[in-house]
Amino acid sequence: MSRLVTALTRSNRVNTTCSATELIAPYEPQIPIAELVEQFNRFYHASAARHYDKRHPETRDGLLATWREMLTVGLASFERRPLRVLDFGCGTGFEAIRLLENGGDSRIEELVCYDLSPEMLSICRDRLARFSCPIRIVSDREALSASGGRFDVLLTNSLLHHLPDPLDTIQRLGSVMSDCAVWLAGHEPSSRFLRNPECRDVLTRFQNQWRYRKYLSLRAYVSYAKEILLQGASPAKKAALEAEQRGLVRRKPPARVVARLVDCHVPNSREEVEMGRGFDVSEMADRLAGQWQLAWSRTYNFMGYLSENMLPAAWLRRCRELERRFPHDGSTFCAVWRRVQRRDGT
Ligand SMILES: C[S@@+](CC[C@H](N)C(=O)[O-])C[C@H]1O[C@@H](n2cnc3c(N)ncnc32)[C@H](O)[C@@H]1O
Repeated sequence: MSRLVTALTRSNRVNTTCSATELIAPYEPQIPIAELVEQFNRFYHASAARHYDKRHPETRDGLLATWREMLTVGLASFERRPLRVLDFGCGTGFEAIRLLENGGDSRIEELVCYDLSPEMLSICRDRLARFSCPIRIVSDREALSASGGRFDVLLTNSLLHHLPDPLDTIQRLGSVMSDCAVWLAGHEPSSRFLRNPECRDVLTRFQNQWRYRKYLSLRAYVSYAKEILLQGASPAKKAALEAEQRGLVRRKPPARVVARLVDCHVPNSREEVEMGRGFDVSEMADRLAGQWQLAWSRTYNFMGYLSENMLPAAWLRRCRELERRFPHDGSTFCAVWRRVQRRDGT
């Protein structure tokens, strides 16, 4: 419950319908917007790394079972043959550990973990040290194509929404993937939730009910204080300062603008969905047709960005009702994709 209160205390989100370019324009960016998004991500995750695992309880909750299922579906076609695996945007190693703990450790020919944040990679290295398979930690993206052979499995988790052009990145990664590769993509924001009027309505009613109650809760204040102590200066504030000091922007942007650029494909409102933020797995399937084919998907989280684990029982029942009626419209999704075989069978 205290996490719920904390999340609501933080719910003063930017609800803007500006594009990333418009958002950052007043601060006079000195490099192209796609590069700036990557740099903000690098600076942000440098300071988020230390407390990342503590601050992301979703990585310990329902996602564990979902990743087990994705691995079962995704790896079935490889039978027992050794696998070359690329974990792109590995962070502190969440999805790599899912693979290694679920039978992967004994069948990996090589696991390559790539991230643009050296701080995240350093934690990932420590967390993977207990496994025995060959693991390479890589911070240079060019090194991915220079490595020994193509990859059978691509893992991503909670990554796509940080990328300036996510589908372009996935398409480009095609050149390092084998022709029978699978891609396991976990925990990304689905735009279908905010497009569904009944889902939106339940979220709005819940937010309205809790808007004022939180101020009466001692727990809210305690958990807010803990949050500040844990985090120190916010990663978004530090990223803003670093970008200004390095001359990437002429004027320091506020933390809320940086946060929107770091999470550049997370929608906070219907209007933002209409502007193209968030993903719809069936639209992705159309855009990736010819390269990746959707093999399995699941949506979950029927209270928007709030984790259901924090909800009072009556609201949890409403979530289950939404899930029963609109199983494809949760606010978050996971998917398994298979590489489309070329016509000549190669
Ligand atoms: C939300 S974290 C997820 C980390 C990990 N996959 C997990 O689920 O715990 C996003 C990660 O993506 C990385 N990232 C952001 N933009 C990236 C980019 N353009 N290329 C590679 N990694 C990126 C960040 O450094 C961060 O480690």
